[in-house]
Parts: sequence; C-alpha cells; structure tokens
Amino acid sequence: MNKPNLAVVFGGQSSEHDISCLSAPNVIDHIDKEKYNLYLIGITKEGHWVLVDKVEDIRDGSWRNSQISAVLSLDATKKGMYLITEDKTAFQPLDVVFPVLHGLWGEDGTIQGILEMAKIPYVGCGVLASAVSMDKFVTKELVSRLGIRQAAFVPVLREQLEKDEEAILARVEKELGYPVFVKPSRAGSSCGVNKAVDRASLRFALSEASQHDRKILVEEMIVGREIECAVLGGYEAKASGVGEILSAADFYDFDAKYNNADSRTIVDPDLPKDVVERVRESAVRIFAGVDGYGLSRVDFFVKADGEVVFNEINTLPGFTAISMYPMLWEQRGVSKDELVEELIRLAFARP
Ligand SMILES: Nc1ncnc2c1ncn2[C@@H]1O[C@H](COP(=O)(O)OP(=O)(O)O)[C@@H](O)[C@H]1O
Ligand SMILES: [Mg+2]
Repeated sequence: MNKPNLAVVFGGQSSEHDISCLSAPNVIDHIDKEKYNLYLIGITKEGHWVLVDKVEDIRDGSWRNSQISAVLSLDATKKGMYLITEDKTAFQPLDVVFPVLHGLWGEDGTIQGILEMAKIPYVGCGVLASAVSMDKFVTKELVSRLGIRQAAFVPVLREQLEKDEEAILARVEKELGYPVFVKPSRAGSSCGVNKAVDRASLRFALSEASQHDRKILVEEMIVGREIECAVLGGYEAKASGVGEILSAADFYDFDAKYNNADSRTIVDPDLPKDVVERVRESAVRIFAGVDGYGLSRVDFFVKADGEVVFNEINTLPGFTAISMYPMLWEQRGVSKDELVEELIRLAFARP
C-alpha cells in the first residue's frame, strides 16, 4: 500500500500565529515518517500559504522565505494542493491534513470548512464544534443548557459600547460589581483579556477587548485554582487526568503563559478525588455538548469549597514543549508518538 500523504498546516493569521509555530515542530517530531509522506504548509500572518521544506525552517523562522505557494484544491474529485512557483505548477495529492493552528482562521471552523468541501480528512473537531468553541459567547449558551456552572456575565457589543458606554458601565456595576474579567468573545492566548477593578480600568478593558472582537464578555471574577482537562477520542471521547496552571502573574495573561518562566503547570495536582472526577465528567459532557470530535482541552476554575466552574474549551490546544494537552496524556501512559498517531487515525475514522 502507498504511504498516505499527510500535510501539517501551521502559522496562520490569528494573534496566536507564533504559538502555532511552537506547537507545529512538536507535532511534526512525533509523526511516524515511515508511515506517512509528510508535507509542511505554513500560513503567514498575512494569509499567504507556502510549502515548507523542513521542520528546522519552522524552528528558525526561515520558512517564511519559501518561494513555493501551496494552494489547497477545493475540488473534491482532485484532493490535494497545487504547488506553484514562478515557472511551473505541480499537483500534489493529499490524504489527510493536520491543522496545528490556534485561534481565528484555524481553530474556528474556517479551515475545517475548506477541508470538508475538499473532502480531505483532517484531525480534530469539525466545523460546528470549532466555530462554537471559538466563540465564548455561544459556548456559554450551549454549556448553560448542560447545567454546568460558569461565571455570570454581561454581554456587550462594540456598537453598544460606541453608542452608550455609560449605560454598560452602570449595568456591569449593578449586575456584577468589581472585580470583573473582560474578554473578546473570540480570541485566545489571553489576547485582549483584562481584569478591571474600577470604572477607569473597566473602560480601558472594554476598549482593549473591542479591538479583538465585536462581541465582548464581562464576567464575574472567579477566585479559584485553574484546572485543565484533556479530551481525546471520537464523538464518544475520554478525559485525561487534570492539570493545574500556577500563573506567575495576577492572572494567566499572555506574558505569564509564554514569557514568564515562573509560571508553572502541574500534572495531577493535589485535589480531592471527587473534584477531579467532577472536572473530568464535565469536560466530556462539554466536549459532547459542543459536538466535539478528536481532541479538546477543557479549562475550569475550582473554588476553595470544591465548586467546579467551567471557563473555556479549546479545540486545537497548544502542543508546545510546555503545553498541558500532551503532558496530560503522557501522564496517562499515552506517549506523544501514540497521541499524534491516534489523532491521525481518528481523522480517517470520522463517521
Ligand atoms: N471569570 C474569570 N475569573 C477569574 N479569572 C479569569 C476569568 N476569566 C479569565 N480569567 C483569567 O484570564 C485568563 C485568560 O482567560 P480565558 O478566558 O482563558 O481566555 P483565553 O481564551 O485567551 O485563554 C484565564 O486563564 C484566567 O487566568
Ligand atoms: Mg484560556
């Protein structure tokens, strides 16, 4: 049998472009090259798709100089990509795609939609689960139906903010009080997320969030530990154990996530067994509730009294050297090689 052609797509147009470039080598290193012919497709921040020669080019950033355009064919009778240079165009068939893209135009159902059109199997959640999970607003609506506790929130639209900011400030103060967390509905890596402790900082936080999205959430602050759970499988998936984020900053902002060496992640933290079970059970229910398939990381707060509060679901979680998703599976005895292989197997097995 011929080896399947597998393309890893990384980079992307979102604010999490750089994180994707850290995740991708970590995925690629664990793909079985005996089993698959590997193709690397990088998407620049501007949205230019290029064929990338080797994983080292991702590590040193030189992939952006590639002179070969990679254009996915949308023709379902001709599955693959066109490789275009100045003087020639070649067609390269593809059997499966592994999107290692975080955030908008990657984790939000857009690339999943392209691959559905092209009828090329791909790793991870489908269009609906990706789009729903990218949008914290819509996720809240769906999860509230499951009866799982979430932070109370006030929804804000950019145009309301432009029209009557005073009314919004008053509503937040009346319904939530301070402190609150303000976040864009669709972002990631804490981009545009701020804590507000008074009117002045709330104004600032709303203006920051509105630069990322038209829809903004103002949430009650949850005081608790940040606990994450990995989900893996088909439509009936399994939960890993749990991990904890120990942020070096006041909250887990972009800097604390990626630049501050004092931030730590702990696998299997000290937590009562029943709390861990509640987190794991909620993670699987939320994954199923958004129609998840393949993988997701589901994030919670656990309050001092043991109450479990859902925060967000990430359908293409970080896969960097310090990322929780692969670590949680390693702790369960699933090596990174096995994890990557299982994700690819699930792509082919999608019903
Ligand atoms: N309601 C909240 N209460 C307390 N902390 C919060 C709340 N919402 C967000 N945070 C803090 O902000 C961080 C980023 O917010 P999150 O909703 O996870 O957005 P992102 O998708 O960018 O990761 C969280 O990891 C947490 O530290
Ligand atoms: Mg988060």
